[in-house]
Amino acid sequence: MKKVEIKTKITVFDSLEELSSSAKNLMNKAIEAKKSAYAPYSKFKVGAAFLLEDGTIVTGNNQENAAYPSGMCAERVAIWKVSSEYPHLKILKLAITASSSAQITREPVAPCGACRQTLSEYELKQKDEIEVYFMGEVGKVIKTDSLLDLLPIAFDKSFL
Ligand code: THU
Repeated sequence: MKKVEIKTKITVFDSLEELSSSAKNLMNKAIEAKKSAYAPYSKFKVGAAFLLEDGTIVTGNNQENAAYPSGMCAERVAIWKVSSEYPHLKILKLAITASSSAQITREPVAPCGACRQTLSEYELKQKDEIEVYFMGEVGKVIKTDSLLDLLPIAFDKSFL
């Protein structure tokens, strides 16, 4: 028996202002997309924006449903738009932001586990890392260089 320590790596920015102009622009698109989220039940709005290799930006937001599990997260709404409309373009970056009507969300909101799994499929498929930036409504922004930094020991097609 042996214990194995698995480390991950994040970069923390104090605010949006510290990001590169490309990442800041992408986060601003996620902030804009968040406004159209359909979240009447949780009142927690999430926006996501992908930057593709040709400069195209694709956005999405969470879509809830009275039958709760039928709703969908912003990240998956957006990634499926990317994969269905631009299947041959590589994804460079993803920006995510969220806010609640109950309080100001000051901590960076990380993508949920199901979104990490879904997103990892596309990073592995394109064989190039996707930078991920996430924040709350205000405050710090966390960046990972790769989706897999958020999902160590991922399940992938090699097991099938
Ligand atoms: N949500 C997202 O859109 N992305 C995540 O990664 C976490 C959660 C949404 C789903 C639901 O509409 C609301 O946030 C509350 O969970």
